[in-house]
Amino acid sequence: MATRKAPSRRGSMHDVPKDLMQQIQQLEQQFTVPTEKLLEVVDRFVGELKKGLSKEGGSIPMNPTWVIGYPTGDEKGTYLALDLGGTNLRVCEVELGEESGQYDIYQSKYRLPEEIKSGTGEQLFDYTAECVKQFLIANHEDEDIRDMKELHLGFTFSYPCTQNAIDHGVLQRWTKGFDISGVEGKDVVPMFEEALERKGVPIKITALVNDTTGTLIASAYTDPTTKIGCIFGTGCNAAYVEDMGSIPKLEHLALDPNLQIAINCEWGAFDNECVVLPRTTYDKHIDKTSPRPGQQIFEKMVAGLYLGEIFRLVLIDLYHNPDVKIFEGQNIEALEEPYSLDASFLAEIESDPWENLMDTHALFEKTLNITTTEPERKLIRRLAELIGTRAARLSACGVAAICKKKKIDSCHVGADGSVFDKYPHFQARGAQALREIFGWDASVRQDPIQIVKSEDGSGVGAALIAALTLKRINEGIHAGVNVKRKNSLIPPPENK
Ligand code: BGC
Repeated sequence: MATRKAPSRRGSMHDVPKDLMQQIQQLEQQFTVPTEKLLEVVDRFVGELKKGLSKEGGSIPMNPTWVIGYPTGDEKGTYLALDLGGTNLRVCEVELGEESGQYDIYQSKYRLPEEIKSGTGEQLFDYTAECVKQFLIANHEDEDIRDMKELHLGFTFSYPCTQNAIDHGVLQRWTKGFDISGVEGKDVVPMFEEALERKGVPIKITALVNDTTGTLIASAYTDPTTKIGCIFGTGCNAAYVEDMGSIPKLEHLALDPNLQIAINCEWGAFDNECVVLPRTTYDKHIDKTSPRPGQQIFEKMVAGLYLGEIFRLVLIDLYHNPDVKIFEGQNIEALEEPYSLDASFLAEIESDPWENLMDTHALFEKTLNITTTEPERKLIRRLAELIGTRAARLSACGVAAICKKKKIDSCHVGADGSVFDKYPHFQARGAQALREIFGWDASVRQDPIQIVKSEDGSGVGAALIAALTLKRINEGIHAGVNVKRKNSLIPPPENK
């Protein structure tokens, strides 16, 4: 269809022995997503987005966030932002500037210890509260933390939550391999506020924010053509703004149908019923052995957490295949360790500039203690390309589906996350998939829908959302409802 090709660097394969060549061809068959499949996936995706908004609901949660409308650029003030993602924890202080669209940010990053991901809720929130405390001590040397009641915190909590107000959020389920006890089905806001109290940090949470919503709002703040916010990182997801009138599951609230509300799609759950996605045995294995089998089926094929694992499973399978000679006679103990390779391992292979893939050679020796031959490295390189390309092309289906559902012909999609930022060719491959889906050929000079690097969603976005929330509280309005009206079905946030 389209003539512009997304990059992939296929070196000469003439020296690859027949058994490896056959495997490469089989892998190509399993992992390639042709245009027709993209179209089929997008079609179903559009239907599933609508289903998620319906009263009956579907696999994709389509969570209303109670973030109403876009920022105007007039938002001001200093806010705390906390980002609890899949890998790191970040605390920021954000000063929204005098000039529209400008801000200053001070931040500290903390590694999330591995054991916390399978511990208890109390451990997680105590650790998080301690990081906030350390940040405040370091950045407010002359002040007493106990007097900081006036600070407003935008808490970016990047997991699916049911929100009936912006400062509440019941965790639907953990994703991204987290398996922390005692939190699913509970409101995470009071749990975290109690932890803050235990640490003597009296700040309250003004807004609970998903990273995609933060990305959408932060990008729209500096680029008003933004209509979608996406994360392509450890997990994968998107948010966009919907008219209240198109959300049947909120009909009972009888709110203004023109009210604009951000929806956190939680599209990682797309195709949990396994109808359309071209899953391989490796994808099925990942799902089966994960802490939440049957959940996040789409995410498990495209997100950073899983790309290295898919790659590892394929190599192990080849090693044990009697018809294939790969890593012959070598100890592959290090490769046998589940989740030992992350997406950055594939990114390094795809970035190897040498014809004989010498960087890949060194990488395998150093990380896995495996010595590779040049033909083996050619298979390895092709495998990384296939997995990375499939992830980019399927991710683009989600973007296309939102655009089709909302009848958006042109826009910017603000995107963030380690895969988007660091995985070679991810952006170009996604753009190529969008061209195929929408049929933009070479005569279309500039792609009408472009996925672009976003502003800092979990920092600035969360701060902006806290600012927007305070403004609405001060105006006596919450989620389009005058909170003083009797019978308001949406509990107003406390004026903290
Ligand atoms: C979570 C989403 C999040 C995404 C990106 C997914 O696993 O369910 O809430 O937006 O990861 O971080």
